[in-house]
Amino acid sequence: MSNAVAESYPSFIKAGISIATPNKKAFSSDIKLWNDIFDVAEREDNGLVYHEASVGAGLPLITPLKELVATGDEVVTIEGIFSGTLSYIFNEYSTIEANDKKFSDVVKVAKELGYTEPDPRDDLNGLDVARKVTILARISGLKVESPTSFSVKSLIPKDLESVSSGAEYLEKLHLYDDEMKTLKEEAAAEGKVLRFIGKVDVASNKASVEIIKYDFSHPFASLKGSDNIISIKTKRYTNPLIIQGAGAGAEVTAAGVLGDVFKIGQRIAA
Ligand SMILES: NC(=O)c1ccc[n+]([C@@H]2O[C@H](COP(=O)([O-])OP(=O)(O)OC[C@H]3O[C@@H](n4cnc5c(N)ncnc54)[C@H](OP(=O)(O)O)[C@@H]3O)[C@@H](O)[C@H]2O)c1
Repeated sequence: MSNAVAESYPSFIKAGISIATPNKKAFSSDIKLWNDIFDVAEREDNGLVYHEASVGAGLPLITPLKELVATGDEVVTIEGIFSGTLSYIFNEYSTIEANDKKFSDVVKVAKELGYTEPDPRDDLNGLDVARKVTILARISGLKVESPTSFSVKSLIPKDLESVSSGAEYLEKLHLYDDEMKTLKEEAAAEGKVLRFIGKVDVASNKASVEIIKYDFSHPFASLKGSDNIISIKTKRYTNPLIIQGAGAGAEVTAAGVLGDVFKIGQRIAA
């Protein structure tokens, strides 16, 4: 996909045009573009920039997080399940009640239900989550260079990265079920489930995308369906804020963008 529109944002903003977008590109690519955008946004007669739906769709996440930071709070950690697809896959695969589902079967069902991209590898490579983590990390004050500048777990077996089609990937995926099965059994033996997580750790200046084991009692362990869930721990909120709900879908995404348009309208009118 082209970056052309995102790269034009700084000149739009300088021309007084405000931006409300659900698109992640401008905010999660090279840090130079992020700096170019926010160096000019909100100055004098320049445009405003809102991108609430770029992480978690309509969930109230970016705006509250920016307000926390603007009012002097400091982010300690952000952990979350940011992909509806990977939420569904892990919620089905690794559950509090024992089950003998195979990872490859769960991915196939996710594809049949329309939860995955046409080629499921576009979800399972972790890059979409890495882009969302990049955005949240930057708002939290980390200078993340790009979504490929930190450790990102890919769920695609090496040998299947280069197969020519999503169909071939799905057909061969069962050959690699054992690795994930071992992880799932290890977690279950410890009273834990596996979840695919994006993480920002400000103290250690680290962003990551990884599989983490969570106790059965953790809010991430009882997640159902394809919901997103995000836990934000700050200096003020030492018991983390938990934001949960649908993180994808036309209606909630449109609502996130429309809310941004309203904010821009109110500020321009003021
Ligand atoms: N859907 C969600 O749940 C969700 C959640 C959060 C954020 N978002 C973001 O919201 C945006 C839209 O998502 P979507 O799911 O609606 O995607 P989509 O179904 O693929 O629709 C994208 C639309 O943009 C049009 N388009 C693409 N490139 C264009 C260009 N250069 N100039 C003009 N039009 C162009 C496409 O036109 P054609 O049909 O002619 O190709 C299509 O109508 C994406 O940036 C996505 O990351 C979506």
